Amino acid sequence: MRVVNKIVLASLNPHKFLEFRSLLSHYPEVELLSVEGLIRNAGKLDSVETHPSYLENALAKSRLANQGCHYPCLADDSGLEVISLQGRPGVKSRRYALPKAGQSQDHANVQKLLEELQGKPESERQARFVATLALSLEGISLHAAGILEGTIAQSPRGTHGFGYDPIFIPKGSNRTLAEMTDAEKNSISHRAVALKELMTIARARNIQFARP
Ligand code: IMP
Repeated sequence: MRVVNKIVLASLNPHKFLEFRSLLSHYPEVELLSVEGLIRNAGKLDSVETHPSYLENALAKSRLANQGCHYPCLADDSGLEVISLQGRPGVKSRRYALPKAGQSQDHANVQKLLEELQGKPESERQARFVATLALSLEGISLHAAGILEGTIAQSPRGTHGFGYDPIFIPKGSNRTLAEMTDAEKNSISHRAVALKELMTIARARNIQFARP
């Protein structure tokens, strides 16, 4: 049996750190540590995200981080898939558009996607967020995936969250993710679903989440 009470998040994205810290509040035995300052190879995390699948990218990041420290390392690779665009932006979601001067990457991505879907009816705006998580520790890696179904809004709404949140309306809602509170997003998100599954898989592999 392995006992785990600290997990390093193998990500340089501060939004993801906050989201995972909040998601892990359901597992009070586990403390989430930031990779920055803790792992000497942290700067390489973005450069190993070159694979064609979420799973390969998540595994590359969790393994790289785990090589640089003695803590279990959790990584996530995620993206937005629009059905009528054959799954684009998909695994390339983070750098979908070329940002113009003075524009953030997230803003450029949202604008590009809205332009591609301009004039398309609701039936062609179906999309889903996908997240694949990988946990690497002591020579093993576990993984799990989660999905959040929804549609792409006609224009951005809301100020919370990050990335494509202002244009993603989860199924069964009339608000975008950016119009929801963090707690609302975290109760339905693709990362929440994947994390729950990952914790179940870890427990089945005899990994105990417990205080020291
Ligand atoms: P990566 O997993 O770091 O490669 O980043 C995935 C990209 O997908 C992010 O930069 C966002 O553009 C997008 N994305 C993933 N999850 C979310 C989410 O929960 N909300 C909004 N955008 C997301």
